Amino acid sequence: MSILQVKNLTKTYYPKKEGLAYKALLPFQLQVDKGEFVGVMGPSGSGKTTLLNMLATIDKPTAGEIIINGTNPATLSNNKLALFRRKELGFVFQDFNLLDTLTVRENILLPLALDKVPYKEMEKRLANIAELLSIASILDKRTSEISGGQKQRTACARAFIHQPAMVLADEPTGNLDSKAARQVLDTLTAMNKERDATILMVTHDPTAASYCDRIIFIKDGAFFSEIRKGDRQQTFYQNILDTLSVLGGDFHESTHTRP
Ligand SMILES: Nc1ncnc2c1ncn2[C@@H]1O[C@H](COP(=O)(O)OP(=O)(O)O)[C@@H](O)[C@H]1O
Ligand SMILES: [Mg+2]
Repeated sequence: MSILQVKNLTKTYYPKKEGLAYKALLPFQLQVDKGEFVGVMGPSGSGKTTLLNMLATIDKPTAGEIIINGTNPATLSNNKLALFRRKELGFVFQDFNLLDTLTVRENILLPLALDKVPYKEMEKRLANIAELLSIASILDKRTSEISGGQKQRTACARAFIHQPAMVLADEPTGNLDSKAARQVLDTLTAMNKERDATILMVTHDPTAASYCDRIIFIKDGAFFSEIRKGDRQQTFYQNILDTLSVLGGDFHESTHTRP
């Protein structure tokens, strides 16, 4: 079953006053099935965040179409769009985006509380996901009292607890050391494998990417190539490195750890 269909998606940034229009995304196609864990890679400035922002429905396409779980968000009113985003999507960001004045529990439950899910049901889902993500012991801490890895696992719990159609992650391991990064990637993998969650993750780290089933490479706003994981993660990792070296460009300085 197809969760995401992107057809001829195009984004042009027009300057506010004068200057040249910039084509950040050329007509772009993408299809993602239920239960896929897809990576998006490409050099700095290739259009990854532009793509993700449109899939996140926080920015509008210049042309083309996005269908998420059967709905084209461009057809929704602002009110309906906010509801749609909350129901159908989950987000994990590089800088966690947690509310520091709230506890871990409150951060995770906020989206359910907004949707008036009954208290017992919330507690049941929370206990379940907290166990799976190894954050059960920190639920009553404030987010200022926990480590980066714990923050990102909290953000993952928040992103997945309402069982959205798709979770979008933009460099989720970008601010983590390699051990914490691995735990977050294991978390994403667990949600994907055990709950059939659909995930689209932008990353510049080949190790992080090697957790995905499939990687889409983009360059200069256009599709460049696609590779799929076979039986061995190590072979996939090597294929990712090879493709990145063909792709060229700047990938930010980063510490690449081996899987
Ligand atoms: N709001 C904007 N206005 C004008 N140009 C933008 C805007 N956002 C991004 N761009 C440009 O579009 C291109 C793609 O940016 P982005 O999607 O952020 O790339 P990536 O996430 O792959 O590094 C870049 O050249 C960037 O400078
Ligand atoms: Mg970006």
